[in-house]
Amino acid sequence: MSFLSNIFKKETSVLGVDIGSSAVKVVQVKKKRGKAVLETYGELALGPYAGIEVGRAVQLPAEKIIEAIKDILREAKTTTLNCGTALPLSASLITFVNIPPVPDKQMADVVAIEARKYIPVPLSEVLLDFSVIPKEEQYVSDDETTKTEKQGQEVLVVAIHNDYIRDYQSIMAGCGLNPSFYEIEIFSSIRAVVDQGIATNMIIDMGARSTKLYIIERGVLRSSHIINKGSQDITLALSKALSITVSEAENMKRTFGLKGGPEYKELTEIITVNLDYMFYEANAALLSYQKKYSKNVSKVILTGGGVLLKGFTDLAKISFQTEVTNADPFGKLETPAFLAEEFAQAGPEFAVAIGAALRKLAELE
Ligand SMILES: Nc1ncnc2c1ncn2[C@@H]1O[C@H](COP(=O)(O)OP(=O)(O)OP(=O)(O)O)[C@@H](O)[C@H]1O
Ligand SMILES: [Mg+2]
Repeated sequence: MSFLSNIFKKETSVLGVDIGSSAVKVVQVKKKRGKAVLETYGELALGPYAGIEVGRAVQLPAEKIIEAIKDILREAKTTTLNCGTALPLSASLITFVNIPPVPDKQMADVVAIEARKYIPVPLSEVLLDFSVIPKEEQYVSDDETTKTEKQGQEVLVVAIHNDYIRDYQSIMAGCGLNPSFYEIEIFSSIRAVVDQGIATNMIIDMGARSTKLYIIERGVLRSSHIINKGSQDITLALSKALSITVSEAENMKRTFGLKGGPEYKELTEIITVNLDYMFYEANAALLSYQKKYSKNVSKVILTGGGVLLKGFTDLAKISFQTEVTNADPFGKLETPAFLAEEFAQAGPEFAVAIGAALRKLAELE
């Protein structure tokens, strides 16, 4: 790209779209002097579109999702229809396969043959994508290089059912949006929250319906898990145990979290029990990874609305024997300084939408 042509290039805005189980999020960014600049962003709870409480996961018909997305685009005053859209992890099947060394040209065929063993539907019904996990030993001697090549290579395979893509295409079309890609939310999150480098990190995304765990090594996904419990389960447990309505429980969860003090002992206990379960599962995944690959996970990065709970990060710090931080995806964007506090607060919720927007922006280059 020439320097001169860049000066006169029009600034183009793009959108990242994240349709979660409980809320839809949009982020609009543009590129200015080589930097990604935040223009606007917004979030809207989906519960009310299904006649249920804010914070709960919903199963909505396409028309309702379209209505919600149009509402948030209007509310956030977005000005472009060009976007990238994230797909839920649950829409995909992710596997790692080992394939023998083959010429690049044959790679796709060999991956498809291996992948067939793991994918429970005919391959004609899925969109298949793969990427080779880069080898670590770049500095080994020629002899050893030959040896590892003989051992084959590990490939990350992602399959998405065509039905999901079709559903999303019709939702996007219904909103008038123009996505140039659909990507599984994992990859959006990684782009938005993981720093470059060789470290091994775990991302925890606590949404409304489920909690997702990803292990990332040298920027590449190495393992993923879903825990079928999310932040709405805390609300439902509170509602039941304290005999209060779901929306009262949601309010209490958000207002006090783990910081209610002695007056809210029961609230604290119920939340703690739920989070302990989650941290136990996350620790098990982390330890099993460390053992299998003899790698140390050096940081746990918290994302998703569920981690905004007051006291969540402190409890996580006690539960993991490693550094724990809240994700700061707005940190990858240029944002108004006087709102820094607000961005740090909201960051974990917007990781997926920001990651999708960043990819879309990179496409323009
Ligand atoms: N300040 C807060 N304190 C506690 N919980 C919160 C807070 N803000 C949001 N939540 C919870 O976070 C959840 C929503 O998180 P998020 O927006 O990441 O979910 P989602 O992307 O819609 O869900 P999923 O990823 O499971 O599809 C809700 O259950 C909500 O109750
Ligand atoms: Mg989510």
